[in-house]
Amino acid sequence: MTQLFLSNAVQQLIQQHPEKRVLPLTIDGKKYYIKRRMSNGRNRFAKTNSSTAFWCEVYKIMVVRQYASFVPNIVLLSEDYVVMDAAGKTLQGVAKEKPWLQVRDHAFEEAGRSLALLHKAGLHHGRPALRDIAYDMDTDAITLLDWENEKTFVSMDTKALDIFLFIHSCFREKWAAKDRHLIDAAWKGYISVPESTAQLDSIRQFIHIHRHLFHLIHSLCRFHWKDVTAVDRTRAYFDSLTSETDYLPPRRDGDTDLPAAPSGREHA
Ligand SMILES: Nc1ncnc2c1ncn2[C@@H]1O[C@H](COP(=O)(O)OP(=O)(O)O)[C@@H](O)[C@H]1O
Ligand SMILES: [Mg+2]
Repeated sequence: MTQLFLSNAVQQLIQQHPEKRVLPLTIDGKKYYIKRRMSNGRNRFAKTNSSTAFWCEVYKIMVVRQYASFVPNIVLLSEDYVVMDAAGKTLQGVAKEKPWLQVRDHAFEEAGRSLALLHKAGLHHGRPALRDIAYDMDTDAITLLDWENEKTFVSMDTKALDIFLFIHSCFREKWAAKDRHLIDAAWKGYISVPESTAQLDSIRQFIHIHRHLFHLIHSLCRFHWKDVTAVDRTRAYFDSLTSETDYLPPRRDGDTDLPAAPSGREHA
């Protein structure tokens, strides 16, 4: 297939779905994703300017690609869109959907390890949430998607913030209230890269410096706000990791010892 053929197919699809920013495309059984240079209509505070965000993402993907394989493979770049190889199922789906049951733990462990290797190379993602990490069962490959997010409103080391936000995005999921073994698998992968303890130290320091804020967050858990509760659980998770167990999560029989997890309905 030529680039011209691909770009014609992309333009046709865009014409059919002018309002869509991210579009899947299949040609001869091969899957791609198109991401267009336009606003996603949400989160305008974080993603201020759509052109800046677009070019920033393309730039980051190209930079990280030089060091690591776990970034999207760009097959076509134009002024208005980028076409990438499809990278499989996001971890949000892997955690919940049946066909991924057998590979679930492995995928989470590999995701944690990939994030640690990214950090070891001195790079960071910005917001590696579960919906922005894909796992391809056929190639056994992790891909970190969506490189346009950069949270700069907290003064935490950017690599430490990555892993904090990743664990936070896990604790936002319903399954994490009952069963943390996927989080443990991801953390096991992350901490298997020896340099990762530096990030754990940074997180611990951050939690200590902001202990009054975290205390407040803990007391706000009674309102069952999803993000707030997830921050509290993330803090408690990092508190539970000690050097006696090589910073691995404590062994659990079932998952009845969830840290400070209030029961009841949660609100997004
Ligand atoms: N290369 C890809 N492979 C697989 N899924 C993708 C790919 N690119 C995007 N997606 C899917 O599309 C969603 C939105 O893309 P993303 O780059 O995260 O844009 P947004 O800024 O809208 O979050 C992702 O969460 C994922 O489900
Ligand atoms: Mg995204």
